Amino acid sequence: MMTEAESIEIFSVIRERRSVRNYTDRELPDEALRAIIAAGIQAPTALGLQPWQFVIVKDRALMRRASDYCKPILIEKIEEEGKSGTEEFLAALKNPEFNIFYNAPVLILVLGAREAVSSFLDCALCAENMMLAAWALGIGSCWIGSAALIQQNPDLLAALKVPDNHQIVAPLIFGYPATLSPKPVRREPRITWVP
Ligand SMILES: Cc1cc2nc3c(=O)[nH]c(=O)nc-3n(C[C@H](O)[C@H](O)[C@H](O)COP(=O)(O)O)c2cc1C
Repeated sequence: MMTEAESIEIFSVIRERRSVRNYTDRELPDEALRAIIAAGIQAPTALGLQPWQFVIVKDRALMRRASDYCKPILIEKIEEEGKSGTEEFLAALKNPEFNIFYNAPVLILVLGAREAVSSFLDCALCAENMMLAAWALGIGSCWIGSAALIQQNPDLLAALKVPDNHQIVAPLIFGYPATLSPKPVRREPRITWVP
């Protein structure tokens, strides 16, 4: 079990972590990326299957290519659905300079084995561990759900070395934060106690 000091630290990491969308150009050491993945794989998995694989992408041109592929599809989808709260993101997507990966130095794709019973949930738990571990190391991160569209593009899947028997669950970006936005305020949770 943890010492009191360790448990205070983990609560502060959980409380303070936030999505980072502005990065410095400083490269991330491979050692840090390995440490982040090592934390990820400590997540629980259904039947203990550990159905994940990881693709570490540092190729900024490839990330830009993936972003440019996803953007028009996202614009069409968001305009079609017309949901409130998407206006700001839609405007950003329409800017040709905008990169859905926010020019982060690293993208890690958490891939889930298609045949596993609970790949999506298992990989999501892994992804959260990774983002928390990154924060503890002073590294920012953001889950880029928009990048799941890569799954529709065989050329990008090949370039990103995603095997056929796996699917992209969590596209996560990492890098040293240039600026930090305030953490979005959490609503009070609705809790029901029984009895
Ligand atoms: C499944 C999922 C998909 C997300 N997709 C995106 C995305 O495509 N782009 C983005 O900027 N943030 C994305 N986010 C980050 C959320 O916007 C962010 O977690 C949320 O606003 C809460 O902020 P916080 O992470 O700073 O606490 C995603 C988060 C999750 C969990």
